[in-house]
Amino acid sequence: MSKNVFTHLEKFLLKLEEFDRQSLPLDTYRWFRYLTFEVVTDIGFGADYDMISHGELNHPFKSFLGPQIERIPLSWMPKSLREWRLAEVRTEEHARGGLQKWLEQKNQGIAGHRVDILQRLIEHGEKNPEDKLTEKELVTEIMEIMLAGGDTTASTVTYACYEITRFPEVQDKLRKALKDAIPDASAPITLEMLEAIPYLDWTVKEMLRMHPTIPSSLERVVPPKGADVAGYHLEGGTIVCMQAFTQHRQEEIFPKPEEFQPERWEHADAKMRANLLAFSSGARSCVGQNLATMQMKIHMGMILRKYRIKGHPDTTPYSMEPLDFFQGKPRAGKCLLYFEKDE
Ligand code: HEM
Repeated sequence: MSKNVFTHLEKFLLKLEEFDRQSLPLDTYRWFRYLTFEVVTDIGFGADYDMISHGELNHPFKSFLGPQIERIPLSWMPKSLREWRLAEVRTEEHARGGLQKWLEQKNQGIAGHRVDILQRLIEHGEKNPEDKLTEKELVTEIMEIMLAGGDTTASTVTYACYEITRFPEVQDKLRKALKDAIPDASAPITLEMLEAIPYLDWTVKEMLRMHPTIPSSLERVVPPKGADVAGYHLEGGTIVCMQAFTQHRQEEIFPKPEEFQPERWEHADAKMRANLLAFSSGARSCVGQNLATMQMKIHMGMILRKYRIKGHPDTTPYSMEPLDFFQGKPRAGKCLLYFEKDE
């Protein structure tokens, strides 16, 4: 799986070079989304939208709004909202199209048809007919992977790049750690090499702590018989929730919480580990967390091995303030940064 991530990232690095040659800032929020959708649709069902070459022309997700908007007839909506609603319709069309194409290729026995998440879902259904998913359910699964897996990782990496321009000493340490571990910039880099770099691991944890991509409350319902939690009795049916954003800012667990300090993870105690909740916790926590962590290590490691990231005057604490649309988004809807190749 990591091979797919490296392949897409190589394309992304060419794009960075293009921007750097022209001394242009890159809207990281936009381009990381292209990158992560490429990865997730490839691993999910073998699609290749090639967004990194074509930009957003083919993008099914220019924006996405929750199901509440489905109830409003399209003709009543202002143009901007209609675009959002249509984006959702287009997403479903892409998912359905992706499934059809995938099934055609499988039926034709096209050589090299890879094992992806869809293959596993279908195979499981073939072996266990009672679990077999209908076409509609498969489309829903594809949509969920696309929607849950792309923006989330992209937003986390965007905020990380922004934070390391605010904390240059972190950028220096991370780049040094990468250069020490991978002295030859032109040598092929593997996941194993990146996974062996503690400072990169701490940086990824700190990215997740400081900017959990879902800052919203995640609701759970207390089972009918009720529950006792931390000395409180909760009646059955009560809705309870927690928020990673506030949990990650508890001073007594994470001192100076507004500072981006990967070092804090060097001697992480059990309390810190238990309170890192960016992927939520328990039975309904993120199923894509290993993939997301792998991607973040590859993206941050490969980019920072070769590039220094510099701020842009339009990218400020105000423009980057995360607004809560269930998933957090920068207030300005963009994050301009310079990527300067130095090796
Ligand atoms: C940094 C990246 C990511 C973060 C921070 C993140 C965070 C989360 C969180 C907090 C939840 C739980 C929501 C809840 O409790 O209601 C969740 C669920 C989910 N995530 Fe992620 N996610 C990330 C990346 C991914 C990726 C890459 C994929 C898949 C390819 C993915 C697939 C899913 C799915 C399918 C669910 C629903 C699980 C269920 O309902 O049982 N996520 N994610």
